[in-house]
Amino acid sequence: MRLDDASVLITGASGGIGREVAIRCAARGALLVLQGRDERVLADLADAVRGRYLRCDLTTAEGIAAAAAAARGVDVVVHAAGVGWWGRTVEMAPADVEALVALDLIAPIRLTQLLLPAMIERGRGHIHFVCSIAGLTGVAGEAVYSAAKAGLSGFADALRLELAGTGVAVSTISPGAVATGFRVPGYVRRLPRPVRPDRVAAAVVAAVEGDRPRTILPRWLAVAAVVRAAAPRAYNRLARRYA
Ligand SMILES: NC(=O)c1ccc[n+]([C@@H]2O[C@H](COP(=O)([O-])OP(=O)(O)OC[C@H]3O[C@@H](n4cnc5c(N)ncnc54)[C@H](OP(=O)(O)O)[C@@H]3O)[C@@H](O)[C@H]2O)c1
Repeated sequence: MRLDDASVLITGASGGIGREVAIRCAARGALLVLQGRDERVLADLADAVRGRYLRCDLTTAEGIAAAAAAARGVDVVVHAAGVGWWGRTVEMAPADVEALVALDLIAPIRLTQLLLPAMIERGRGHIHFVCSIAGLTGVAGEAVYSAAKAGLSGFADALRLELAGTGVAVSTISPGAVATGFRVPGYVRRLPRPVRPDRVAAAVVAAVEGDRPRTILPRWLAVAAVVRAAAPRAYNRLARRYA
C-alpha cells in the first residue's frame, strides 16, 4: 500500500501511538481522518497534519457508525484506540470489563465490518490492528486486557486468511510497554522497558507499506511468545519472576 495517494482512518489519534502514526502517515502524503474524543488535541493535530477529525465514543454503536460514515472510502484503517486495566480480575467492576472489551475488541471488529465491503469492491485496502504482547503471552494483572488483545490478534489472523486474493491486507503490531499516557492506574512493571511511540508508529507504517502481517516490538519479545508455546512451565516461572 503506497501511503502517498492513500486515505487513512486512525482511531485513537489523540493518543500517544495514534498521534505518531498520524504524523508519519501525513509525512508520506496520506490524507487523514483522525478519531478520538479529546476535541482540543484532535483539532491541534488535524491542523498540524492537515487532516479531518471526528470526536466519537467507540464503545457505542452510534460512535462506531459515525466513525464509519466519516471514513467512508478510506484505503487504510489503523485501529489504535484502546484502554487498559490492571489489578486482580475479581476486583474489576463489570462496567470496566464491558467498556474494555467494547473498545479493545468489539469496536475494531465492527468498524472493520463496516469499512471492508468498499475496500473489497475496489480491490484495495489495508487494515492494521494495534494489539499487544499481552494478547500473545497473557500478563498477570491484565487478564481482561490480555483476552481482548488475544481476541483481536485472532480476528486479524483469521481475517487475513479470509481476504487472501481480494487486494485487502491485514496486519498487526503487538508492542510491549510504550511510553504514552496509556491509563492503567496502579500498573508497575520492570520489564520490558517502554519503547517510544514514534518507534511503534514507524513499525506500523512499515507494516502497512510493506504488507508485513505480524510485528512484535521490541523484537526480542517474540522469544517470549515462542517460549510460552514451546515450554509453558519454564515460561510461567520466568513470567512470575519478572512480573
Ligand atoms: N502504551 C502501551 O504501553 C501499549 C502497549 C501495547 C499496546 N498498546 C495499545 O496501543 C493502543 C494505543 O495506546 P496508547 O499507548 O496510544 O494509549 P493512549 O495514549 O491512552 O491513547 C488511547 C486512545 O484511545 C482513545 N480512546 C479511549 N477511550 C475511547 C473511547 N471510549 N472511544 C473512542 N476512543 C477512545 C483515546 O482518545 P481520547 O484520549 O481522546 O479520549 C486515545 O486517542 C491501544 O490499543 C493500546 O491497547 C499500548
